[in-house]
Amino acid sequence: MARITASVYTSHVPAIGAALDLGKSHEPYWQPVFNGYDFSKQWMKDNPPDVVFLVFNDHATAFSLEMIPTFAIGTAARFQPADEGWGPRPVPPVIGHPELAAHIAQSVIQDDFDLTIVNKMDVDHGLTVPLSLMCGQPQAWPCPVIPFAVNVVQYPVPSGRRCFNLGRAIRKAVASYDEPLNVHIWGTGGMSHQLQGPRAGLINKAFDNAFLDRLIADPADLAQMPHIDYVREAGSEGIELVMWLIARGAMDDAPPRVRHRFYHVPASNTAVGHLILENAS
Ligand code: DHB
Ligand code: FE
Repeated sequence: MARITASVYTSHVPAIGAALDLGKSHEPYWQPVFNGYDFSKQWMKDNPPDVVFLVFNDHATAFSLEMIPTFAIGTAARFQPADEGWGPRPVPPVIGHPELAAHIAQSVIQDDFDLTIVNKMDVDHGLTVPLSLMCGQPQAWPCPVIPFAVNVVQYPVPSGRRCFNLGRAIRKAVASYDEPLNVHIWGTGGMSHQLQGPRAGLINKAFDNAFLDRLIADPADLAQMPHIDYVREAGSEGIELVMWLIARGAMDDAPPRVRHRFYHVPASNTAVGHLILENAS
């Protein structure tokens, strides 16, 4: 049977992708950001997954106001890096896992979560920047990736509680897949940031660090936090953090092993947070 063995959490700032693609990662501004992922790149090599289930948000790239799926699972064999206005990032195409994705869709929809099934989708910085942070600049990404897009851009957005319960349903779905795959689940986006309005530039280090503590130690309690608290405390784009609860809900109930924890401000307009959690058994 397939099994989720680990989860990864990371922010997804587009300027991080540009810094890598333009060869600026060693500049003094960026070096501390990338240093925080040195451990993670080695960990990916030492603990290679067969598949990554990557929870991210699309930023009005593949979707628009014409169509707003709350939860969308990518079932295609391949996903191209999107053109977000300055050409597609020069990164490899994302190879999907249509069989596992279809199985998860079947199981999770029968478990009463309404997923949109997406057979064609270009993937924006929400997905490609986390891959770059965790894998560097390879010729090809190290394994198939199932993109799972969550609407956190256009209101109404899903609650943390629903995201956490969806994670549990994904755990059950993976555990019933009849092939011994080692699956990692990633929750991406966040941490505190606000890109517009009078509070643009907001960062809340105390909130972010408490969020990391609670995500590790008591995610079921954290999942009760209403969306308005994310927006008030972490900024309008801080709501991206609800996606981390999907990954956390997919982990075993026993306390996880914390393999890596990193927090850094600033990166563009965003506080960068990053965790690697492994299931204990
Ligand atoms: C920034 C952060 C985001 O999450 C995003 O989607 C776009 C920009 C930023 O910090 O600049
Ligand atoms: Fe974003």
